[in-house]
Amino acid sequence: MTGYLWLASSFVLKPQGFSSDIVGMKWPHQFPTYFVLVIGCSALSCQSPQVTDSVIDIVDPTSLIPAPSELHVVGGFTGPVNHLMVHGFDACTEASQSWIATWFADLGLSEQLANRGEQKTMVKASSHLWLDNDQDFAAKEGSYDLRIEADGVALRFGDQQGLMNGLQTLRQLTPTDFWSEDFNGSLQPGFHWPLLQITDRPLHAYRGMHLDVCRHFFDVSFIKKYLDNLAFHKFNRFHWHLTEDQGWRIAIEAYPLLTDVGAWREASQIGPYSDQRFDSTTYGGFYSQDDIREVVAYATSLGIEVIPEIELPGHSRAAIAAYPWLSCQSESLPVATGWGVFEDVYCAGKDSVFDFLTTVLDEVMDLFPSKVIHIGGDESPKARWETCAACQQRMVAEGLDNEHQLQSYFIQRIEKHVNQRGRDIIGWDEILEGGLAPNAKVMSWRGEKGGLAAASMGHEVVMTPGKPLYFDHYQSDPSQEPHAIGGHNSLWDVYAYQPLSNDSSVSAFIIGAQGNVWTEYMETPEHVEYMVQPRASALAEILWSGARDSATFDQALQYHAQRMDQLHWNQATHHLHEAH
Ligand code: ACM
Ligand code: ZN
Repeated sequence: MTGYLWLASSFVLKPQGFSSDIVGMKWPHQFPTYFVLVIGCSALSCQSPQVTDSVIDIVDPTSLIPAPSELHVVGGFTGPVNHLMVHGFDACTEASQSWIATWFADLGLSEQLANRGEQKTMVKASSHLWLDNDQDFAAKEGSYDLRIEADGVALRFGDQQGLMNGLQTLRQLTPTDFWSEDFNGSLQPGFHWPLLQITDRPLHAYRGMHLDVCRHFFDVSFIKKYLDNLAFHKFNRFHWHLTEDQGWRIAIEAYPLLTDVGAWREASQIGPYSDQRFDSTTYGGFYSQDDIREVVAYATSLGIEVIPEIELPGHSRAAIAAYPWLSCQSESLPVATGWGVFEDVYCAGKDSVFDFLTTVLDEVMDLFPSKVIHIGGDESPKARWETCAACQQRMVAEGLDNEHQLQSYFIQRIEKHVNQRGRDIIGWDEILEGGLAPNAKVMSWRGEKGGLAAASMGHEVVMTPGKPLYFDHYQSDPSQEPHAIGGHNSLWDVYAYQPLSNDSSVSAFIIGAQGNVWTEYMETPEHVEYMVQPRASALAEILWSGARDSATFDQALQYHAQRMDQLHWNQATHHLHEAH
């Protein structure tokens, strides 16, 4: 318990001008904050110290989630922060400036802003935040250094992710009592930050979370809240699953029926899959292109890249409902109402299907600046292709032996188009079948086998094995939980996960991991929140700095639960006391 020792040393509280000693403190084992009782006495004589009523609540830095890769606790804490002078404000984008201003306003904290090189009066500021955007910062994407000294904080970063990661750390170091909207810093003595030095570098480059907005639709305001939670945990990729059998969720100008028709289903399956029960309510929703731009800009300001997923050739019933000629049989079919895998998929024999998909992808690439575009590739039955004259003719013309090779042809033809736009494709591990497209990256979801095979061939891989990274599975005893897809992925299963292989030449191509949130059984934002937290906290930590001993992480989670409460995030909490 390093905190206990450093708090026992004496230090100077600034800026009131009196020295102080600690005469009493509590070490509340359930919450990793320090409560320090301070004796006030005059600077010149201190013979008869008077106990003041100041009880200082300082956040234990070991409660940070994810834990920093390097933490040095110096000892002591800052003077009370109730007015912050921000230096180097021009070092960050307008969106980050507005993020900082909103954060301070939420804390009831007033701030004063100065651009680099400007000398502003510091007399009234109780603390200073120095932002140092150092273009030469030779560190991995998202890295930052944070130094908290008695009267100020220095944050050094090299990119937007690094700036936001440093600010999120500072935010987590702010006692949660001060997060409440009705706290007014100008009327309060202010809070204190612990003095420390953090040198923070991510272990894995790809730290992702996914969300299926097709089985159930979530509006822009929830997507922003979801992104806030990702940034809070130093995730840097949001995989947005936008098209499915049960709904097409992104407006495409060239094909308006995709959302006029494809975004709406006439009914939805309710209850467990085996019950095969359905309601009779029209359900749907979609994002306009302005919505998409708004989300992408918001994510970018948080240091998060949004990876859109346009599923092909399977999971395409909503598109086929809008434009029946996209399928082999050109049969008019409704948007799917039940869950599962459907046999009607895009026809691989018609050139018009490829024209459609490349047009859709062009609009998608105009909206999303991400280096990779997710093209799905999973769970595409071959039954229709086997009996389709156009598909069979394609196989003859291209010299393909079977329908798996036809799927590979499909993926590679799409990949070529995406590559022409300077982007790479990523797909589910089925894209390995029939030969992997040359520049493709793979998301390994059916365990790790596909990912390891792809990595050994030199393809970049994101690990997202169903066990334990599918957060739609139960997180504890099913009898105590809302209905979920079968399977059990507890918080501690997630925390024990390790994405790398024992073979370092293979591991070199494993760029990170991702938690997946399929929403068949999650109808509301609150339910999504419940399935995500605290498992995303565990994943964030293993991806950022690696697992620490589970008792320490468990203790950090206790305090972190208060943070999540302050953020109005509906977390599952009964697992926090589970054996690990
Ligand atoms: C998947 O879960 N079908 C990628
Ligand atoms: Zn066909």
